Parts: sequence; structure tokens; C-alpha cells
Amino acid sequence: MLSIEPIDPVSRPFFAGRVSGIDITRELTAEQASAIGKGMDHYGVLVFHGQHFDDESQLAFSRNFGQLEEASGDLNWGKPRRLASALVNDISNLDNDNRVMARDDRKRLFSLGNRLWHSDSSFKAVPAKYSLLSARSIPSAGGNTEFADMRAGYDTLDQDTKDEIEDLVCEHSQLYSRALLGFADFTAEDRVRFKPVLQRLVRRHPSTGRKSLYLASHAGAIVGWPVPEARALLRDLIEHATQRQFVYAHQWRQWDLVMWDNRATMHRARPFDPKEVRDMHRTTVACERSTMAEAA
Ligand SMILES: [Fe+2]
Repeated sequence: MLSIEPIDPVSRPFFAGRVSGIDITRELTAEQASAIGKGMDHYGVLVFHGQHFDDESQLAFSRNFGQLEEASGDLNWGKPRRLASALVNDISNLDNDNRVMARDDRKRLFSLGNRLWHSDSSFKAVPAKYSLLSARSIPSAGGNTEFADMRAGYDTLDQDTKDEIEDLVCEHSQLYSRALLGFADFTAEDRVRFKPVLQRLVRRHPSTGRKSLYLASHAGAIVGWPVPEARALLRDLIEHATQRQFVYAHQWRQWDLVMWDNRATMHRARPFDPKEVRDMHRTTVACERSTMAEAA
């Protein structure tokens, strides 16, 4: 029998739930899919333990929640991808021969951007709704993923700040987030592909009606604002929204599946020994429209 309980009922009763009593590698009933959707609306992050997915069963589970996004957020490496399906993001530190990437591998350095707080695909005009991350191999220590509740981040702002940011529009690009880490190894083609897109800073969740801060380290400008002033505000807001009381730190077990709502959360990866293997596969459900169209 499917049940969903808060992971930390005392300090975060409304954020991050643990689901039990279901094998999600098998076809779901409509009732089960709807219960998981409701759980996502409530908790923002759901954890399922012991789910032995391969890419096919992960894709099938993900399709219960909408149209899937192509895994097109990477640089063009000029090599074939390690994973067969173009709908599965390779969140691993492995090269095409399944060997741990060298410390200075350009692909690895680019992926270190995941250590910064972000919302998946906010750099795409139509960004991600849900991300689903399956832990196929994990390192012996470290490598947590942390999640911040952006609804709580919004709710706890003072009224003047809420009024000031209500209608602000940000520019998001992976060029901005990578620049924060000093990564600038982009080709002219990458720069065209990662041209900034516009996203509202405050968004209203289409199912729950709750407002949240839509932030990411990909946000590097606010329309109509001087850049340093925009970045100072964005930094203040990220600092506010990622205070520890709003954060759930997920410590991975092999075969965990964690899904989160990118419209209501931010997340970041934590470091681990770069000599050890970490192999995670991510599928992504797209939003139905851009945040600009959502508000209109
Ligand atoms: Fe991510």
C-alpha cells in the first residue's frame, strides 16, 4: 500500500517525503500516478528506496508525469554519448569507456556547475518540471544532493522585498553559472546555443497556486537592472532561500530514485572523491510552457 511520510516531520513537515509500499519500476495504475503527483505538489521532493531501474523502466515511470525533455544541456563534445537514449541525462563521472574521467576533463569541469544551487533547465525557454534521478552506482562517502524549498524561501521574505521582485524577469544561461566557477571553455557554437532565456523571478505553481522564488546560479541578469545590482540581489535571495532550515540533504543509497519539482525547489550536488565512480541517470519532465507564458 503506497504511503508518503515526511522525512523530517519535526523540522520540515511539508518538504521532502519518503514513499513506501510501491515498486515504481513496474507499470503504475492511474491512482498510483495521481497519488505520486499529489505527493509532489505537497512535498516538492520525493524519495523512493530500492528501485532497480534500467533506462527503459525509468523512462516508462517518468512518462506518467508529462512530456520528457531531451538531454540537451551539455556542451557538444564531438563524441557519441555514453547513454543510448537521448532522453536520459548522464549524471556520472564516467567517459564513453565507463572509466572515471580525468580530473581536468573538460566535460567533468563543465559538470561541476551542478555543485552550485540551481533549478534544472532554467536555461531553456521551456524549463523542467520534474527531474528524476536514479542512483546506479554511488561513491563510498559524500556526493549528497541538497534540496532547498523555494516556497518557504518566498514566504519568509519581507513584504517590501516581495513587492520589489514580484514582476522581475531574469536572464538564465549556463554561460553565467559556469563563469561563477571560472569555466569559460566554450566554443562559438556553445555560446549561441546557451544564449540567455527569460524567466520570471517569482512564479506561481500551476497546481497548488503557491508562489516560489525561481532562482538558479544560471540567473545572471535582471531585465532593466544594472548587472552588478542584479547579481547582488540574486545572491542575497539565494542566500536567504538556502538557509539550513529550508534544506533537505539527501544521502544516497544505491537504487534510490529521487524526484523533485524544479518549479518549487533548487538543488546542488556535494563533492566526493573524484577517483570513485558515481553513476546517476536523470530523466526530466518538461513544463508545459515558459514561465513568461505561465504568468500571462
Ligand atoms: Fe541539477
